[in-house]
Amino acid sequence: MENSVIISIQGLKKHFITPGGRFTALNGIDIEFGKAEFTGVVGPSGSGKTTLLNIIGSLDSPSEGKAIVLGQSIGELNVKQAALLRRSRLGFIFQSYNLLPVYTVFENVEFPLLLLKLNDGQRKKMVMDSLEWLGLTDKVKSKPAQLSGGECQRVAIARSMVKKPEIVLADEPTANLDAANSHHILKTMVQLNKEFKTTFIFATHDDKVIGYLRRKISLIDGKVAKDEITNN
Ligand SMILES: Nc1ncnc2c1ncn2[C@@H]1O[C@H](COP(=O)(O)OP(=O)(O)OP(=O)(O)O)[C@@H](O)[C@H]1O
Ligand SMILES: [Mg+2]
Repeated sequence: MENSVIISIQGLKKHFITPGGRFTALNGIDIEFGKAEFTGVVGPSGSGKTTLLNIIGSLDSPSEGKAIVLGQSIGELNVKQAALLRRSRLGFIFQSYNLLPVYTVFENVEFPLLLLKLNDGQRKKMVMDSLEWLGLTDKVKSKPAQLSGGECQRVAIARSMVKKPEIVLADEPTANLDAANSHHILKTMVQLNKEFKTTFIFATHDDKVIGYLRRKISLIDGKVAKDEITNN
């Protein structure tokens, strides 16, 4: 643990009701994450990585056990409280970018700030700072269709970082990128982690991502099979 605990998962289980009956995607997870960690959740397809990230991100709730994120118990939040936690303190990067196609790069990155109480000047500065970090200042007026895959993913990272969240959850963030772009965005995330003490949690299969992790948690069949500190 690098620092104080900001996420505590205790006896976490997640069951899904499927046409074939009850399916247990997470089957008793106990882990803690400290501030400023750079950690990956790895494991075979279907092992529960996305399910775990979704619960940490308050996009889903535990069936049994607890997930305490930044002092809040995810299963006990109402819809409004969960939305407030997400928009004020968490950042998300999804495999498919989830950029809004009709909006410009500037507007896409500005989007998470619209729900916060900021004036136009403050918002503009935060967006431009974030775009500068990701090397996108010359693309502010472009729309996603005019960008490469790597640039779209950098916009998605700029959007996830714009409000300086305490935790960024990144689900397969390099899945659509070539090696050069993957390394570029990973180096950027390492810098953001150092500069802002942002905790990064990845779900990934990608050896390139794994090469940058400082901690690797392996899931198999919804359980933690290994939890290792790596030498990166
Ligand atoms: N909403 C759902 N309803 C029913 N089953 C689900 C649901 N979401 C996930 N599952 C099942 O839970 C298991 C874990 O899914 P999850 O998406 O967490 O896996 P993953 O480790 O992220 O896999 P991948 O590497 O393919 O992304 C899978 O068997 C999946 O089919
Ligand atoms: Mg997944």
